[in-house]
Amino acid sequence: MTHTNFLTTAALVALLGASFSAQAYDADWKRGRVYYRSVCTSCHTAGPIGSINPSTKTKAEWNTYLLLDKHAKGKDTVSKYVSKDYRASIKATNKAAEKFADTPDKDLLDDIKAFLQKGAKDGDSPATCS
Ligand code: HEC
Repeated sequence: MTHTNFLTTAALVALLGASFSAQAYDADWKRGRVYYRSVCTSCHTAGPIGSINPSTKTKAEWNTYLLLDKHAKGKDTVSKYVSKDYRASIKATNKAAEKFADTPDKDLLDDIKAFLQKGAKDGDSPATCS
């Protein structure tokens, strides 16, 4: 990583930290875990990519990843797969998407963030997908 890149990443992480503390919503990591395992992981394991364990990245790496919001090497976004529209499109076959159909996008994204922070390589309880 170049010096400039490092500074940019550090600034982004600081920014995200600030936005965390400004939030009134109390993130629910358990709901984040259910969604991650039922929606994110079920697609990853269905495809050639395989499951992506939260413990494969550090807390800072997850922070940066979610902040940049570039999913699948930039082909789409993580927020797309958290959105109400996406949940509506799969809820006929996905119980978690159905259960959280009306959760605001931002709350659900915060829940996933909380789960990934907890389950990160250097988090409180490094987690696998299952
Ligand atoms: C519709 C299928 C699908 C869903 C749903 C999905 N992913 Fe992915 N994801 C993929 C594919 C395919 C790749 C691999 C792309 C590649 O390597 O070219 C990927 C890659 C990733 C990666 C590896 C880095 C990257 O972006 O290439 C992470 C991390 C990730 N997904 C997180 C998530 C999270 C978090 C969610 C849920 C909010 C999610 N994904 C939902 C299909 C999906």
